[in-house]
Amino acid sequence: MLNTNRNILFKATILALCVISLVHVFLFPLYEVGSVSPRTYGDFEQSLCMNNIKKRKVWRLSRCPQDGIVTIMQGGRLGNQMWEYASVWAVSRRTGLEPYVPRCIKLKLDQIFEQLTVPAFEEIAHCPVEIKTFVKSLEDWTFTNQSIILPRYSLQPELVLSWVQDIVQEFTLRKKLREKSQQVLRTFAKNLPNKQYTFVGVHVRRTDYIGYLRRKHNINPANQSFYSNAMRHFKLRYPNPLFIFVSDDPTWCLKHFGHKENVYIASHKNKNTPALDLAILAACNHTIYDYGTFGEWGAILAGGEAVFYNVTRSSSRKIGEVMKNWYAMT
Ligand SMILES: *[C@@H]1O[C@H](CO)[C@@H](O)[C@H](O)[C@H]1NC(C)=O
Ligand SMILES: *[C@@H]1O[C@H](CO)[C@@H](O)[C@H](O)[C@H]1NC(C)=O
Ligand SMILES: *[C@@H]1O[C@H](CO)[C@@H](O)[C@H](O)[C@H]1NC(C)=O
Ligand SMILES: *[C@@H]1O[C@H](CO)[C@@H](O)[C@H](O)[C@H]1NC(C)=O
Repeated sequence: MLNTNRNILFKATILALCVISLVHVFLFPLYEVGSVSPRTYGDFEQSLCMNNIKKRKVWRLSRCPQDGIVTIMQGGRLGNQMWEYASVWAVSRRTGLEPYVPRCIKLKLDQIFEQLTVPAFEEIAHCPVEIKTFVKSLEDWTFTNQSIILPRYSLQPELVLSWVQDIVQEFTLRKKLREKSQQVLRTFAKNLPNKQYTFVGVHVRRTDYIGYLRRKHNINPANQSFYSNAMRHFKLRYPNPLFIFVSDDPTWCLKHFGHKENVYIASHKNKNTPALDLAILAACNHTIYDYGTFGEWGAILAGGEAVFYNVTRSSSRKIGEVMKNWYAMT
């Protein structure tokens, strides 16, 4: 009885959360008809986040922006939010508008990266915001006093990657993560003969993405032969490649690749954080990944060659057109 009640309560809570998040999704369009306009950048910042951010006492109030700003709505997980941050950073460079990211994105990324330069709204939280001056893309932007609010999940690969060295520097991993990832590579190499090795990070994404690809794009997910082909590519081109697998499904990787020579499955069930997996990919010299923004960033940060799964109309295909040394394969 008690259990049933709890269950109902639980379901009601989930339902309520869903409703709240639905409302949240539709908040921004409402601004346009002027019904719930936030008055300050502080209120505005909250409306860009998926969850409630705590109000914080601000000790230093900056002058308010004279011209427009560029910002973005939060959406997705680590890889998406890196693109969201990078898009704001790049659009600001292109336009000269002051960049701001909502604190929810900033806090998440600050835990992982140590050199982020784009501020959150804290110091201008008291400033009035004029929603009517906001446009939603670089293409719609026509003059300095207009602001830009990019939609969640925005990617601007051409723009961001035209300054690839600089964005890689923005995303300098925290020292702890860099050390930990080097330790992972050393652990693997130390039982092998002492040679010059080439580290190839392999990101295998399976759990949530497989259904998504079938449902949304009617595409078969990458199978074993994609990873094997990609590994062959590196074996032909580099001396002594070692393949370091990170994945949301390490069991699958063990089953299909665990027995192979020079393969190391670095992810453990429920153990690695996404931050450590990203750091491992970044520490490697080259990258194999199937799809998704997480793999894209692993490959960008590694800065070597990348092989990815050929999916029509994917962001990776766009990136592949911009980056030399990136190859689509099946
Ligand atoms: C932008 O607005 C400020 C004051 O709000 C004004 O001084 C400035 O001339 C405007 N700039 C342009 C390009 O309209
Ligand atoms: C793997 O996928 C490729 C391309 O989708 C397909 O041609 C191939 O038959 C598949 N191999 C296996 C073993 O399922
Ligand atoms: C390859 O990666 C390892 C580990 O991060 C690094 O020590 C080495 O210098 C890299 N090699 C090249 C040629 O960049
Ligand atoms: C990727 O797939 C497209 C069709 O979707 C095809 O035209 C293209 O040749 C493929 N590229 C590679 C490198 O396999």
